[in-house]
Amino acid sequence: MEALRTLITGHLPPAGEVVRTEIHPQASAPSFAGYGSLRVDSGTAALALALLSARQRRPELSAPEVIVPGYCCPDLVAAAVYAGVNVVVADIGENDAGYNLEALEACLNERTLAVIAVNFLGIQEQLEELRRRLKPGTFLIEDNAQWFPDASETDELQGDFVIFSFGRGKPVSLLGGGLLLFKTDHSAALPTPDAPSTETRIIGNLKRNLYNWLLRPQLYQWLNRNPLIKLGQTIYQPLTHVQQMAPHQAQLLPTNIDAYRAKPRISEHAYDEFISNHNQLRTLQSPRRRRLLRYPLLLKAQEARDELLARLSRAGLGATPMYQRPLWHIPGVEELVQTPYPCPNANRFADCLLTLPVHSGVTETHRQRIRIVIDTAASQGFLDAGASRH
Ligand SMILES: Cc1ncc(COP(=O)(O)O)c(C=O)c1O
Repeated sequence: MEALRTLITGHLPPAGEVVRTEIHPQASAPSFAGYGSLRVDSGTAALALALLSARQRRPELSAPEVIVPGYCCPDLVAAAVYAGVNVVVADIGENDAGYNLEALEACLNERTLAVIAVNFLGIQEQLEELRRRLKPGTFLIEDNAQWFPDASETDELQGDFVIFSFGRGKPVSLLGGGLLLFKTDHSAALPTPDAPSTETRIIGNLKRNLYNWLLRPQLYQWLNRNPLIKLGQTIYQPLTHVQQMAPHQAQLLPTNIDAYRAKPRISEHAYDEFISNHNQLRTLQSPRRRRLLRYPLLLKAQEARDELLARLSRAGLGATPMYQRPLWHIPGVEELVQTPYPCPNANRFADCLLTLPVHSGVTETHRQRIRIVIDTAASQGFLDAGASRH
């Protein structure tokens, strides 16, 4: 019955807003006080430029290091490898994707060139606490690939460098592109990206329209069910180039930013409410939380996470386990990072996290169905710590 129903209703994508392909002349690109900006072809490219620029400012460091959190996207490693900077992994907090500040401090040394502060799904890093721990000459790089500030939040940026991504499934998506913000006193040391790709507006918009079409649950399910297409799998992809953003892509940016900021936050608030009825579930509730890209849900044990994920996936409700592994266990990354201290919190986080969708395609019916799946799993005891399949 459930299988038949899912065939009809389809599968919700876990993230992804429709990409606007029209240019609104009244929409203007946001400005960030105190920062210069550079548009590039990806968020990874923006990160790599930030690290290259930091390196140029510290030529005396022969083996510079960058600190990254134990649970994060492997693109951070790709950017560091491209920039020739060694990656050091520090543990995250307990039930918090932000750094465990003691673990971070233990990794800081005279070789530390930069610390990457990741905004995880819309939850800011502890920017002030991080800044206080960094010596002059150690750069704070804010990685906001998973968040884009509302107009009233643009003054919250604190990094020496700040990056945003406009890739697939990102808050403001153009199916590619990135933005690097740099404190204006760092502009002299910025490497120049290569010329943009020669993709025309017509081809670009064809791709975007196809993507918009595939976001529909009835169509998305065929991608999701295809065993040859590994949607959402976390893999390490080396960075091969840093180019400028294509001009037609840059023209679409303001319209897409406006559309994203106008989006109501109904789903995240609805999940907050019904999650509070279940003491086996917690979200990453924090004053650092801003608009969410996906809704993070932490279970008490991996078995409970896997069971709930399986149930929500069978129902096509857009749940994901995010990266599934701590950074150093992502295939291809092992050899590229140093983990000087154990990272138990990152391990546990990878085992116990799942995300629920909050994008504009999520309807009240989807939220009701998610609630029923969770309530049923809870009433059958599947969400308790150590619960196993009966
Ligand atoms: C935290 C984080 N940083 C950087 C990136 C890289 O962005 P892009 O895909 O635009 O290269 C991602 C992409 O998923 C990300 O999640």
